[in-house]
Amino acid sequence: MFFRIVIAVAAVACATTAVIAQSDPIDARRKEMKAMGSHIYGGLNRMQRGQEPFDKAKADAAFVQFAASLAKLPALFPEGSKSGAKPGEEFRTSDKIWTDKKDFEGRFATLAKDAADNRAKVTDVETLKAVYPVLRKSCDGCHETYLIKN
Ligand code: HEC
Repeated sequence: MFFRIVIAVAAVACATTAVIAQSDPIDARRKEMKAMGSHIYGGLNRMQRGQEPFDKAKADAAFVQFAASLAKLPALFPEGSKSGAKPGEEFRTSDKIWTDKKDFEGRFATLAKDAADNRAKVTDVETLKAVYPVLRKSCDGCHETYLIKN
């Protein structure tokens, strides 16, 4: 009898953990941020600096990623999902995300619009050089305002 209860409790605990793991908004938003980061800090940055040749397909892939990530990101900051409690993390989220929610979400919208409006303009290194800072300033501006270094 006791054994059966233990097994039942363990099964419920496992099921709950699985659901939380799948719907952890902190993990999910970091995944999207990293996906955008691989283009902004990686490929696009190297191409605009002339460290690697301009590749239209690669630039296009970046814009596809921005659109996909930015469609998901605003919903991945629900109330109570403050991050940075774990030791060893480099930054934590500021409470301002939830107190200045309109400004915070507006920044995602601005970036999404800038990305959509400028996608077709990027055809070579020169045009990428012009567009890159427009996008980059949204990333940096939001991080400066809404992230606190641990
Ligand atoms: C509206 C605000 C906002 C914008 C715009 C934004 N970010 Fe972020 N970013 C955040 C927040 C908040 C976090 C921290 C999330 C957390 O850990 O809870 C973050 C975290 C990150 C991380 C760290 C992820 C990790 O786990 O190591 C990277 C990389 C990143 N962002 C890249 C970008 C790039 C690239 C752009 C622009 C294309 C961008 N972000 C635009 C708010 C923003």
